[in-house]
Amino acid sequence: MRHEDLIYAPSTEERRTKRLQAWETLIEAVRECRKCPLCNSRTQSVFGDGPIDTDLMFIGEAPGADEDAQGKPFVGRAGQLLNRILEAAGIARESIFITNVVKCRPPNNRVPAVEEMMRCDPYLQSQISLIQPKIIVCLGSTPVKWILKTTEGITNLRGRWFDWKGIKVIPMFHPSYLLRNPSSKIGSPKHLTWLDIQKVKEEWEKMRTRSPESDAGRN
Ligand code: URA
Ligand code: URA
Repeated sequence: MRHEDLIYAPSTEERRTKRLQAWETLIEAVRECRKCPLCNSRTQSVFGDGPIDTDLMFIGEAPGADEDAQGKPFVGRAGQLLNRILEAAGIARESIFITNVVKCRPPNNRVPAVEEMMRCDPYLQSQISLIQPKIIVCLGSTPVKWILKTTEGITNLRGRWFDWKGIKVIPMFHPSYLLRNPSSKIGSPKHLTWLDIQKVKEEWEKMRTRSPESDAGRN
């Protein structure tokens, strides 16, 4: 008997098919989720937006009113500012995956409760393990605290690289915070965010110019 007959090794194509099926199943599960009370007040859940094949993932807090209405993340005022930040840095929004810690809008845009984040976390973890991003950008203190399990303030954390399960994580200010602090003076939150997004872009570029073999493990 040949070695190959003893060990079942799925082909790259089989693994890819399975991964895409798991993605579709996850989308469906989030759409129908009733694991926490936010499902009672939502119009719809907001899974996230962007390709599964990306190295770069952005995580916000929770959908707001516009996101709840449209079913897409970061489409309101904060989203429009995020779009401008991405565009200025030369990062195409269509090439990144954007989601939130919780997939349903908390009433009156309050910060999601720990219990809600706990119930929703398996969706976020599944998104991360199916995408296998190399970089995660955390927008504002909610995703930073949730992912890095830290109590340190965003002002100290932003613009620094952290390792989380082999993924490079960088916190940035939330675009809503920038809307409330519109100054662009040197050292202002907007100016610091501009420096941070350029760091992200630089790191991402480095990865994209690396040899394709470094991606061989993913399919
Ligand atoms: N703020 C967030 O944190 N997420 C969105 O999707 C929109 C606004
Ligand atoms: N507080 C937050 O929650 N996010 C920010 O980006 C800044 C302050």
